[in-house]
Amino acid sequence: MIGQDELQHIREQVDIVDVISSYIPLTQKGRNFFGVCPFHDDNHPSMSVSREKQIYTCFACGATGNVFKFIMDYEHVSFMEAVAIVATKAGVELNFHLKKTHSTSSKYQKLYDCYSLASKLYQNNLHTKSGSGALEYLKKRQIDDACMKEFEIGYSLKDGQVLTNLLLNKKYEKTVLLKSGLVIENAYGLSDIYIDRVMFPLWDLEGRVVGFSGRLYNDEKQFKYINSKESEIFKKGELLYNYHRAKEEARKKKQIILMEGFMDVIRAYTIGIKNVVATMGTAVTKEQASHLKRLSNDIVICFDGDAAGAKGTASCIEELLKLGVTPKVVRLENDLDPDEYIRKYGASAFQNKLNNPMSTMDFKLLYYKKNKDLSDSADLTSYVKEVISELSKIPDEVMREVTLKKVHDESGLEISFLREQLEKLEVQEVKNVSVPIVKKEKDKKETKYEKAEKALLFYMLRDGNAIRVYQEKVTFMPTKVYRNLAREISCFYNEYGKIELADFMTYVSDHEMIEEALSSIVTLPLKEEAKEEELNDYAKVIREYTIKSEIKRLQKEMAGASLEEKTKLATRIVELRLGDKKYDK
Ligand code: CTP
Ligand code: MN
Repeated sequence: MIGQDELQHIREQVDIVDVISSYIPLTQKGRNFFGVCPFHDDNHPSMSVSREKQIYTCFACGATGNVFKFIMDYEHVSFMEAVAIVATKAGVELNFHLKKTHSTSSKYQKLYDCYSLASKLYQNNLHTKSGSGALEYLKKRQIDDACMKEFEIGYSLKDGQVLTNLLLNKKYEKTVLLKSGLVIENAYGLSDIYIDRVMFPLWDLEGRVVGFSGRLYNDEKQFKYINSKESEIFKKGELLYNYHRAKEEARKKKQIILMEGFMDVIRAYTIGIKNVVATMGTAVTKEQASHLKRLSNDIVICFDGDAAGAKGTASCIEELLKLGVTPKVVRLENDLDPDEYIRKYGASAFQNKLNNPMSTMDFKLLYYKKNKDLSDSADLTSYVKEVISELSKIPDEVMREVTLKKVHDESGLEISFLREQLEKLEVQEVKNVSVPIVKKEKDKKETKYEKAEKALLFYMLRDGNAIRVYQEKVTFMPTKVYRNLAREISCFYNEYGKIELADFMTYVSDHEMIEEALSSIVTLPLKEEAKEEELNDYAKVIREYTIKSEIKRLQKEMAGASLEEKTKLATRIVELRLGDKKYDK
């Protein structure tokens, strides 16, 4: 792991103004530099970059961060990759090897080696006499040699001892073989699990083989695919098929396409579409959604054209919306999957579909309309309700209006009525805090306490004086996330003797909640400096909250207390009320 000090050192070697201006044009206005924000649909320069503070801030969308964060979000790379990019720009030698981010890799090295050996064996089998049936099947499916090579497709022999013996000869322990899921043990001893199947290796995000999917090729039985069992290095829900290969292409094309099956991905490849990955089934996990987001903000879901594919699309949209990404959707006719569609209608027909995806909302309108008769009152009612509920998850205001208009046209209900329903739902949702979608600040009614907490935090981020006020006169912030943020600032200050915002951003970058709160505070439209008495006022307001809620609690307790206890509690309340006076001079 790389330490905070080293990170600070790397960060100090570059000027954020130089780095950002190598990506987007910046012009100087006064002390700051301005450019068109790359993180939202910006048409005039709303992003400001501060040379003094070494951070960027977009006043339109609220994006903010230091040089590492900019590169992570602009290049869609991980934190460590961003650090490596900055280090390269700065000419700093890194003490760690990025390729080996898995410090645990050696622990599982034997497993990796088994899969790698197995993959080579399977590939080789495909071109032997015994593999001719499988090879023929692949050819018939229009998978050519180059493609087989690219995707390392192979074949497992009918003789169920070959792989087992190969691994035993290489002196791998039985426990490793069993753990790998490539070998099983029965009454007769050890033998291969994959027998007479076309073998597709599955890779982890870094491109190491961590499992297989074996397909029947001479029979369309129910279990046409058998996947390796999950292991320490293979969790199907945590990887996306073809991720390591699609990564570069997705960045270049600024788009990633998501399919269900690996055959679909392979087919897409044969027609030159390489920014494509597969979930390997329709259920999209949280982890897969966040890998997708890392690849690109422009995500196109192109699942199978059948009902299961539509359902999978809807749930995939859910997962992505939770991460603040609104994907686009391509639906294929006649229940076809991308592989079948391309073979039936050709490459350019498919490319044409990809070039004209529908919006998430249009997909949902279609999805909810399915099997409903809108001239039937009950159907129409449930349709309108479903759409409004979906709409409450969409942050895009224009999209909301456009959709309300569509629903109005379809249902004949007044737009103002529909909007009212939508607003009602949102109040409920804020209460349940079910969907962590960035709601506009002004939508939430902020209490004076929250305002004071945020203002004090704002100054704590630029001024040691404010941190002292917090440490001496507040110590406890009522709102949990602000409390945590204040504690982090305080710790950072005690450790480094000063508060450097750009470094502090790195310091909290692995706490998503804190990082979010930090962004909202950094972008507050407050004046740069505060006087001592203003800081004290903020502290006083915050204390007032704590004292009030403590008094409330004691008063409740009094209700059921004995006379003696009542007196004690009353004294405590008076003390609390007076206590605060000692801070006022
Ligand atoms: N899948 C799986 N286990 C199964 C069936 C499917 O893991 N028993 C996964 C596979 O990764 C497959 C994906 O779900 O790629 C989609 O399944 P399906 O649509 O049934 O497969 P196809 O891509 O149509 O495969 P093929 O064209 O070879 O029939
Ligand atoms: Mn198929």
